[in-house]
Amino acid sequence: MKALVLAGGSGTRLRPITHTSSKQLVPVANKPVLFHGLEAIASAGITEVGVVVGGTAAEIEAAVGDGSAFGLDITYIRQSAPLGLAHAVLIARSFLGADDFVMYLGDNFVLDGITDVVDSFRKDPCDALLLLTRVPDPTAFGVAETDGHGNVLGLEEKPRYPRSDLAVAGVYLFTPAVHEAVRAIRPSGRGELEITDALQWMIEGRLTVRSTIISGYWKDTGNVTDMLEVNRTLLERLQPRVDGFVDEESEIVGRVRIEAGAEVRRSRIVGPAIIGAGSVVTDSYVGPATSVAENCCITGSEIEFSIVLRDSSFDGVGRVQASLVGRNVQVTLAPGLPGTHCLVIGDHGQVQISSWPSPARTPGHTAQGPYR
Ligand code: G1P
Repeated sequence: MKALVLAGGSGTRLRPITHTSSKQLVPVANKPVLFHGLEAIASAGITEVGVVVGGTAAEIEAAVGDGSAFGLDITYIRQSAPLGLAHAVLIARSFLGADDFVMYLGDNFVLDGITDVVDSFRKDPCDALLLLTRVPDPTAFGVAETDGHGNVLGLEEKPRYPRSDLAVAGVYLFTPAVHEAVRAIRPSGRGELEITDALQWMIEGRLTVRSTIISGYWKDTGNVTDMLEVNRTLLERLQPRVDGFVDEESEIVGRVRIEAGAEVRRSRIVGPAIIGAGSVVTDSYVGPATSVAENCCITGSEIEFSIVLRDSSFDGVGRVQASLVGRNVQVTLAPGLPGTHCLVIGDHGQVQISSWPSPARTPGHTAQGPYR
């Protein structure tokens, strides 16, 4: 069996991070989300992997290499534009050959891996097997209707009126029967060749499409909220370890990993949290569910429930929460400008500030206004 990993896509919901970086390489618990997927594939006993790449090909290839670091043999397949999941299968035809394969969406995260579903496909073959998960709002996903015994009766992509709460998670197992299906379908309203339509075509052609419902944790990390949530979930499983330096005036509470070369001085780190190699935390508080990547500098600041990418710094800023901070970002106090925010933010950046607007300049607010 082979694997086809989809790592194209532009990641519009993660801008501005994705202006300069691939969404699949955003780290959760200091490891790119894509690496977690590649490890899950290797654990399922699959070694031949095709990685479909798009505009961020160079960055993905630089990070993943030939796959040997994961025990995988990786072939890169270039997708000219994000034309859909079924299009990715179409262009991977010669790589996939006559083999069964698992298709894995590189921005998806399955906490318990894919070994069970791969094993169940091997033991009890069918034409396609889907992972499904119950979600509160299925309209954002492919939605499956099943007969209650795992047989899929029908599928719809992002339906306005979903027929069930069973969303299609980003792991699919296929026999070569899928190749005829992806050739037969036409682009959807959003201009993509949908894998959901290919599966529906298979169902209508009386091929067997089965499903299994994920009992564990699954997330599509396409937006900041989900990214922070996956980060928190992974940190909760972190093996606590202090390989870096922590001075006597600091306090480490709970599940915390301080990587080699990191330094913590006069600070309090409350887990689950990870401080990456070469990062220095001084006179600060790093709170639960926070990943600080490599070579960051946190001084006189407080940060929690956040992901900070490498080479960034916080100096003298109050509590930062629920934030995704890119690489080489500097957050400091505005010198000599009390009560003023001084911003240099990339395109599509999002900033939420905590202070009230100055009452004197806000119509309808007296000096007693919101401060009373
Ligand atoms: C894709 C699939 C959808 C599936 C989802 C899982 O959606 O088309 O059926 O439920 O992945 O993450 P997309 O991320 O392309 O909107």
